[in-house]
Amino acid sequence: MKTWLKEKIGNPDLFTGRKKELAYFLNWTDRIKREISVSTAILSRRKTGKTALLQRLYNITFQKDDGIVPFYFEIKETDQWIGEFAREFFLTFVYQYIAFRTRKMEYFLYSKENYSQANKIARKEKMDYLARFISDAESADRNGNADSLWNMVRDTPRMVAQHTDERVLQIIDEFQLINRFIFWDRKKTRQADNLAGSYLHTCEYMNAPLLVAGSWVGWLSRDLDEMLPGRFQFHYLENIPESEATEMILKYSHLEDVPVSEDTVPLIAGITEGNPFYIGALFRSKHPGRNLATEEAVIETLEFETLHKVGRIRGIWMEYVTRAMRTSNDVHAKRIVLYLSKHREREVTRDELREKLVLPMSDSDLERKLKILVEADIIEQGRSNFYYRGVPDNIFDKVFRGVYADEIETFDPNDMTEEYKALSEKLLRNNKRIRGKYGRLSSF
Ligand SMILES: Nc1ncnc2c1ncn2[C@@H]1O[C@H](COP(=O)(O)OP(=O)(O)O)[C@@H](O)[C@H]1O
Ligand SMILES: [Mg+2]
Repeated sequence: MKTWLKEKIGNPDLFTGRKKELAYFLNWTDRIKREISVSTAILSRRKTGKTALLQRLYNITFQKDDGIVPFYFEIKETDQWIGEFAREFFLTFVYQYIAFRTRKMEYFLYSKENYSQANKIARKEKMDYLARFISDAESADRNGNADSLWNMVRDTPRMVAQHTDERVLQIIDEFQLINRFIFWDRKKTRQADNLAGSYLHTCEYMNAPLLVAGSWVGWLSRDLDEMLPGRFQFHYLENIPESEATEMILKYSHLEDVPVSEDTVPLIAGITEGNPFYIGALFRSKHPGRNLATEEAVIETLEFETLHKVGRIRGIWMEYVTRAMRTSNDVHAKRIVLYLSKHREREVTRDELREKLVLPMSDSDLERKLKILVEADIIEQGRSNFYYRGVPDNIFDKVFRGVYADEIETFDPNDMTEEYKALSEKLLRNNKRIRGKYGRLSSF
């Protein structure tokens, strides 16, 4: 398959699996033709494969070329004035649209600053209607009226679709950032903290539905509930199944040139619980040796990734933890996370937390504290407002304890090695049993 939009994954051959999700979203995309697909939000923590999935969906849709124009835009994590943001959004759409219609990849690379160049190209490619949109945006921009520029450009994808009776698939990655990094004024002092709400009507047009993704699950779902109630369907992206994890491990082993063995393939699949980023991180680890062919090597690499300062798995989780602890930097919050994480196989009530941890605070203070942790994605809400749960991820548990446990309880890194060993032995035993049952698996 041809890669039109450059994919962040790097070598396109690395992309593995996601069969269920691709089938679902390709069908969803196909239904846009009949204008029956509702705007959807894909939610999952950072590095779980949203961008990889969305960019692949983009390229497949582009390649198919059957009347649905894909548009991919990622909201950046830097402070921006809304005028600049709107201009970049608009020109990104314009160039992706022209690239789609002309099948010329070079248009992906044009500057997202310059209206007159876009205007010239639209005319050269015989898209005069598009050129009119460009002139209108340019004059709104020149007049310095950023709000009306945003209103205009936000609706451009669906208006263009309407004009030509085409459809547009609007993919907006890291959508939750729209309420945090865009400012009403050039000096960037007035945050546009309700900008997501401007999509209230835009996202209802079925000729150009939105497919947004967000890595801050608690935060994005709250914003969508408050500002765009009932407008989005939620889709939680899960880890990949074991068969796809196995395929991914073999592919990474081959392309990254790191050896694995018959025993360690299911071990890696089990220990990472099918999280594609964890699998990638083991193969790209800075741990010396670059070898995942023995049980010891796998455990050592995993320990490095979870405990060492430069471990990428630790780095990703620390971003979430630091954010939560910035607003709630107290030892009780840490003890709560630790307790829930230890009992992550079940939901825990507020009463149990207060009792077991002897928390000196009222129920409503505790509820507030827990809400912050839920919104920062380092604990989860249970079946009701009264229940909470640790992140169901054995690796997060280790990262968190590695960083905070010595502050809260005595912590011995050897315990962790022992736990990894115990888990690994269980997985290996299980693997032998399966192999016994089904005969030898194909050799690696
Ligand atoms: N389907 C996949 N096939 C292979 N690797 C993947 C896949 N999905 C994710 N990855 C790996 O995980 C990393 C993080 O994925 P990414 O799509 O950037 O996550 P997110 O957008 O959710 O933060 C990628 O850089 C890649 O190494
Ligand atoms: Mg992403």
